Amino acid sequence: MKQATLHQLKVFEAAARHGSFTRAAEELFLTQPTVSMQVKQLTKAVGLPLFEQVGKRLYLTDAGRELLLTCREIFERIAQFEMTVADMKGLKQGQLRLGVVTTAKYFVPRILGPFCRRYPGIDVSLQVTNHEQLIDRLADNRDDLYILSQPPTNSDIFCHPFLENPLEVMASRDHVLAGEKNIPLERLAEEPFIIREPGSGTRGSVQKMFEERNIKLKVRLELGSNEAIKQAIAGGLGISVLSRHVLALEGSTSQLVILNVEGFPIRRHWYVIHPNGKQLSIVARTFFEYLLDEGKRVAEATAALRVTD
Ligand code: PGA
Repeated sequence: MKQATLHQLKVFEAAARHGSFTRAAEELFLTQPTVSMQVKQLTKAVGLPLFEQVGKRLYLTDAGRELLLTCREIFERIAQFEMTVADMKGLKQGQLRLGVVTTAKYFVPRILGPFCRRYPGIDVSLQVTNHEQLIDRLADNRDDLYILSQPPTNSDIFCHPFLENPLEVMASRDHVLAGEKNIPLERLAEEPFIIREPGSGTRGSVQKMFEERNIKLKVRLELGSNEAIKQAIAGGLGISVLSRHVLALEGSTSQLVILNVEGFPIRRHWYVIHPNGKQLSIVARTFFEYLLDEGKRVAEATAALRVTD
């Protein structure tokens, strides 16, 4: 293993995580032959095959699985070392890795602006994924802090609610139900419905609510992005349930309205989360405090968005 390089371990870890050389190459901005060559050299250094190919998919061998665990430990130790050094340098330099659910992308980038201006030496990485993918990132300890709406109940985590993330029924401005008061939940079953993809927290909450009331929705379209759903609603394809935050910045010019439906909004919060026992860097701790302050400010601004109250 003395010949193995850190770069090879990074390439291997990405290939193992994706089960694909092509996707690892995309993630690391390398070519597929480069990834394949790096893995080949690493395999030679280990002296045992690391992957086996079944059909188109790559699977880890026993040696590959062991190496993956070792890689993660090494990267975690290096990250801790970087953190120690960053702490020694104060907030002048360092890294902040954030993982957030799609609804949070409507406010996290905006509050990152002033934070980055205040601490210009800090590099930020912001990963926006749906709920299920974020839970995977948390399990793999890939980021410093996570923002999501449904904290996992089966993991040992620190979890702090910081801002409301209510789900609302949205329709196009000229929809027949726009402006009506107290629309019965059953009435929504008559409308074509647009729903998020499996694995989405929004989808999970919507399904739970309608299943509890034994109402079957007429799903016309399934889309993997809040923005795409907004466009589909505006285009008259149907109604949907989305976070109120997706209307941030749109104000009265929005082509979407919030319907006044019995039982809505579905009340939820965003939580900021990290694994218990994870030692946060000074950068992550500072961002955490900043987030709680900003949360209070955003709460006041978004309360004004509920135009149909
Ligand atoms: P989603 O998450 O992107 O998985 O729907 C949104 C949320 O849970 O707030």
